Amino acid sequence: MYILGLESSCDETSAAVIYTDTEKNINKILSNIVASSVNEHALYGGVVPEIASRAHIEAISNVTYAALNEAGVSLSEIGCIAVTSRPGLIGSLLVGVNFAKSLAYANGIPLVSVHHIKGHIAANYLSDNPPKPPFFAFVVSGGHTSLIDVKSYDDMETVGVTRDDAIGEAFDKAGRVLGLSYPCGADMDKLAYEGDVDAIKFPLAAIKDDSLDFSFSGLKTAVINYVNRMTMKGEEINRADVAASFTKTVCDSVIKKTEMAYERYKFKKLVLSGGVAANSHLRRVLSEFCEKNGISFYCPPISLCGDNGAMIVAQGKYEYLNGNFETTALNGKASEQVCPNRVNSCE
Ligand code: KG4
Ligand code: ZN
Repeated sequence: MYILGLESSCDETSAAVIYTDTEKNINKILSNIVASSVNEHALYGGVVPEIASRAHIEAISNVTYAALNEAGVSLSEIGCIAVTSRPGLIGSLLVGVNFAKSLAYANGIPLVSVHHIKGHIAANYLSDNPPKPPFFAFVVSGGHTSLIDVKSYDDMETVGVTRDDAIGEAFDKAGRVLGLSYPCGADMDKLAYEGDVDAIKFPLAAIKDDSLDFSFSGLKTAVINYVNRMTMKGEEINRADVAASFTKTVCDSVIKKTEMAYERYKFKKLVLSGGVAANSHLRRVLSEFCEKNGISFYCPPISLCGDNGAMIVAQGKYEYLNGNFETTALNGKASEQVCPNRVNSCE
């Protein structure tokens, strides 16, 4: 079966066509087109929701037909349309949801909706050696930082979330104060190689209970205060040292929570996903931690870390197999934890 996936939850408009053989568990990515409005947001140092939704409206049709053309597949051959319906910027989500509903209705194609975070996790299912649940997953992106107990392709429980900023947001804000342009994650990644990780002591987020929750706003503020203080004193700022010390603190905080979670759950597989999963330092420290503890470590190729339509197909396939079909009543939803069926850790 061919599945068309649409993603428009933030500032990327993406469409992908994947050929999937559910019995043999073969997934072949035939196209994965991503159009980003990131350059329009760079001017403002962060995503401007109104600009993002307008950009989706302009791009969605072209991106979808480009994905079909590149795959060499016509709409009549598509067996299912999967679309991100939650969580995200509501104006952005609605563009993808309404476009997918119209396409599905007009062509009589079954429609399924996908939770964005489940999509990020599912990006890992597209590799040659995909992780099979159960496993633990870190979803680290511009909008999310969650540690999730993935019990099956459908049943997940969030065991830790950020109480304030997401990791990607901290990378973006720290990078901005260093004069990098938005989104700053990839440039911070490179810059960190040129600096000394021990040059500046930034505080590790201290959540005093034994919770697996995260906090990154204190670290972000510490970087901003450091740069402002140095500027006021007229002292030179070594940007590479700031990037390296900041990144080390982020990695230490993630490792600390991974250790705590491992003590508690003794998971055998750990999956990293989301835009910040592209960070080479984070990939390295987590992979070293896993190797030391006999845990299998998985992360997607860089091209599937950021928002994309292929990851929505990867999860959409399981929504289809579970018969979770949508009607034209489908709506977008700005916020929803990954496990709406589990009251203990949901909104
Ligand atoms: O998953 P994503 O594309 O969008 C959201 O769902 O938020 O993630 C975007 C985030 C941005 O904050 C960006 O700076 C960050 O991922 N990012 C990185 C790297 N590449 C992208 N952060 C750290 N290191 C990277 N190499
Ligand atoms: Zn995302």
